Amino acid sequence: MNFELKPLSLLEAATEKCDALLVLVTDTFKPAKDGFSAFVGRAIKDGDAPTKAGKILPIYKHAMAQATRVLIVGVGDGSAKQVRTGVAAAMASAKSDKLKRLVLAFASPVLAPCVRAAVSAVADASYSYTTTKSKPEALALQSVLLATTNAAEVQADFGRAVAVVAGVELAKEWANRPANHATPTLLAKAAQGLATKGSKITCEVLGPKEVTTLGMGAFLAVAQGSEEPLRFIVLKYQGAAKSAVPTVLVGKGITFDSGGISIKPAAEMDEMKFDMSGAASVLGVFRSLAELKPAINVVGLIPSCENLINGRAVKPGDVVTSMSGQTIEILNTDAEGRLVLCDALTYAERFKPQAVVDIATLTGACVVALGSVRSGLFSPNEALASALLTAGETAQDLCWQMPLDDEYGEGLKTSFADMANVAGRAGGAVSAAKYLQRFTGKYPWAHLDIAGTAWKSGASKGATGRPVGLLVEYLLATGTATHAGK
Ligand code: BES
Ligand code: MN
Ligand code: ZN
Repeated sequence: MNFELKPLSLLEAATEKCDALLVLVTDTFKPAKDGFSAFVGRAIKDGDAPTKAGKILPIYKHAMAQATRVLIVGVGDGSAKQVRTGVAAAMASAKSDKLKRLVLAFASPVLAPCVRAAVSAVADASYSYTTTKSKPEALALQSVLLATTNAAEVQADFGRAVAVVAGVELAKEWANRPANHATPTLLAKAAQGLATKGSKITCEVLGPKEVTTLGMGAFLAVAQGSEEPLRFIVLKYQGAAKSAVPTVLVGKGITFDSGGISIKPAAEMDEMKFDMSGAASVLGVFRSLAELKPAINVVGLIPSCENLINGRAVKPGDVVTSMSGQTIEILNTDAEGRLVLCDALTYAERFKPQAVVDIATLTGACVVALGSVRSGLFSPNEALASALLTAGETAQDLCWQMPLDDEYGEGLKTSFADMANVAGRAGGAVSAAKYLQRFTGKYPWAHLDIAGTAWKSGASKGATGRPVGLLVEYLLATGTATHAGK
């Protein structure tokens, strides 16, 4: 899809030929002197076009507009959140196979975060997954024009929004693919595909041999239950001098999580194909970086394998040695995410990073705690936590800080190894984070539990592409700030 931004007044936007013109009106809308603005103003005044976010007045052909349909769309107070609500509602109403060209006209000068909200709401509404359908329907919407009088002011934000859309769509694509179409090997190929000429991205893929040599005993323990070979993906984006310290992103890449011998119940087990959403978000971020080319260095690490059950599968009670040297008693084979992540977190040390952020569909407990609105954020480093929280707010890809008191880690004690991989049921999202924390002493670290936010269940089942928006926003801000201490 092609997005464009032009400096146009409402009247000028109305002269654009298109299948639908969305006129976005805020509570404080003041009509300009022209007839079209006056018409919009009158519709609001008469109460036919409420400015409340998500309310729509659909109009078929208007004498002063070249569009087939005009929709007056309420965006409330004009905040990013309400713009998103309004545009999403308008898209649900305007979406059809005849909607090929869309114009969004901001009736008042637009704030930067709203440009992003509008672009991402349009992209979300028009996305459709087709890869494993025999007769995929072509995407109807081809071009989207954003019209606002202050286009020059928001040009950079517009560029960022479009790059984030590309990243989000790549993340959705890989997360949505069924596990037999998104094996660790295929995921690695997708990563290698990002390392194109001019992208500033390089990619290295390790297999079982190299991972064994590295001593990643925890990762290997998960992978050994499947015939599908593991992959450890190392992506590097180098936009700054080689000497500039990178930020490392670590994405959980379990391409299918059956639970292993601690097997999951059958209901909704298909959704465990989404258990590589953290990995998909890392791919998505790199896709956005290739577009934006910021002057920063970023490393992406993806430990990827299946969590299955063959004759060699790891058993409850088995003790393995992680790359860090710490031993782990695997009491529950379904707590596999932390096992693959802990070795990747140790591997991350070699980059002497300014920060490491891991992204994982880690615990059902996080879904219980926060639902699907905010991702769980864990970090002992307040500066890093606050940078991520702010990035989430700006990108409208929210997270919420959770505690890391040492008492939450006490349940990980065992008589048979340095730690167990599970504690009790209570506070499960936190004890998982406490487990990971034991591998992150050498750098500032944060953990994002995206179990509730990475995909939607039910009728609109599908990946959300989160938290690509948050991460891109955070990374672009690291160009100007660093996090001291731990
Ligand atoms: N991938 C799951 C977490 C998950 C569950 C994400 C449901 C989204 C929805 C993870 O590997 C897992 O199975 N975690 C266990 C941990 C438990 C055994 C301590 C869980 O949450 O039940
Ligand atoms: Mn699991
Ligand atoms: Zn899992």
